[in-house]
Amino acid sequence: MIGHTKSSSRSLWVSSLVEKTKQGIACIRLGNVHVIAVTSPEIAREFLKTHDAVFASRPTTMANHYASRGFLQVFATPMGPQWKKMRRVLVSAVLNPATLQWLLPKRVEEADNLVSRIYKQCCTCVHEGKMINVRNVAWQYGGNVLKSMVFNKRSFNGDGSEEEDQEYVEAIRTALSLINAFCVSDYMPCLRWLDLDGHEKMMKQAVDTVDKYHDPLIDERIKSWRSITNDHISTRKPHQDLLDVLISLEDDHGRPALSSEEIKAEVLELAMAGFDNPANAAEWALAEIVNQPHILKRAVDEIDRVVGKNRLVQQRDLSQLNYVRACAREAFRLHPVATFIIPHVSLSDVTVSGYFIPKGSHVLLSRLGLGRNPEAWDEPLKFRPYRHLNTGSQLPVQLTEPDLRFISFSTGRRGCPAAELGTEMTMMLLSRLLQGFNWSVPRGTLLLDHLQSKDALSSPPLILHARPRLSALVYRMTS
Ligand code: HEM
Repeated sequence: MIGHTKSSSRSLWVSSLVEKTKQGIACIRLGNVHVIAVTSPEIAREFLKTHDAVFASRPTTMANHYASRGFLQVFATPMGPQWKKMRRVLVSAVLNPATLQWLLPKRVEEADNLVSRIYKQCCTCVHEGKMINVRNVAWQYGGNVLKSMVFNKRSFNGDGSEEEDQEYVEAIRTALSLINAFCVSDYMPCLRWLDLDGHEKMMKQAVDTVDKYHDPLIDERIKSWRSITNDHISTRKPHQDLLDVLISLEDDHGRPALSSEEIKAEVLELAMAGFDNPANAAEWALAEIVNQPHILKRAVDEIDRVVGKNRLVQQRDLSQLNYVRACAREAFRLHPVATFIIPHVSLSDVTVSGYFIPKGSHVLLSRLGLGRNPEAWDEPLKFRPYRHLNTGSQLPVQLTEPDLRFISFSTGRRGCPAAELGTEMTMMLLSRLLQGFNWSVPRGTLLLDHLQSKDALSSPPLILHARPRLSALVYRMTS
């Protein structure tokens, strides 16, 4: 069993420092590193828009090292040729619209499985419904979507056992929380061998656990592809999934473009990337929506009007669910998955908003601080999807926020390259949960405790009561 960290330790002390300065920017020195936290949207834009090129690197922290298998993938890798190569691969081969469209049936299958899994739990008591751990089902959905797109599998051992899934999901959750955690030795490398906070041991265990599931499949698949090439079979197998895509990429000389280590690092990145953000936004949006019956009614009415009750929400419906989109956007603003985005590192000395920022500084944009900034938002602690409805505009509400008034996918060279996929996953998850079930707060529990928690990941999971709201026939279509 892998332990949990106080993932927010870095978050808490840096954000309280920011609160104290009231300037929207604060700097502290840890070891030899200047750590700069930002809560002002104007200053955030200076960093990631005006001076984007300067702040386009990442720190070589212990957790980033393990998560990237030695800085071989995208998100944790400092600016340089390896980051450029892998980002190009990700954008052009994995996240391009044609590939995403080709893999749509796999994502739809996982959205069906989500509904059918909850329905089956409810079926043990159809009239009274069932308590559902929303966090678990949401994380499972994100994990399964990526597993299915990458490995063409829902489960690693073939029988979809919950226990195995749980170990895998827990390991990814631990790795993600350690990437966001403060680790003493990142700022005082001479202490690394002591592993004072135990983070290195936990991170290594988490990544080893994930690799235990991934690596044999990747090795076997590489062998099968490379044996085809060695035998000079000119007609290649059709691709079944993203693993086939990554293995069969070729450089200008017709040689494999990615080494097996790079493929493993990229698969690890994809497995981690889809887990937390869509699940977190859907969980918190649902908690807030259920807490305010008029919002719940409006969201469900919209789904019934656009989709009806005889079929489930599909990808093509999502752009028309404007109110549900506004709810998801509001969840990103108010309940971010982590207090900060992954740090950016400055590549040279620069002056930003009148502050001198030395080369090598770590810049942390505060997701909480920006999204809840009273200068930028009216009644910032209230969940009000209405604020995002752009009256007069024909365009659907976007979940992206390039002006950094809050952080969803961020912006610039290091901005999330998967905004389209992330939006689809978040919207599909939230809309299917709202359409498929009547949700209510279990008697004797208080939703308010959940909603007032500042830290999304360390808050207790959302447990709600679910009752099917569609005819049994519709659920049967999913199984
Ligand atoms: C709702 C879903 C998602 C949200 C809200 C989200 C958000 C973010 C954010 C805030 C960053 C950091 C940006 C920065 O440092 O300025 C990021 C980076 C990244 N995301 Fe996402 N993400 C989502 C889904 C995904 C998915 C599904 C994938 C891949 C399949 C993905 C791949 C990446 C990668 C590779 C980076 C690193 C980019 C770089 O450093 O060059 N994300 N994402």
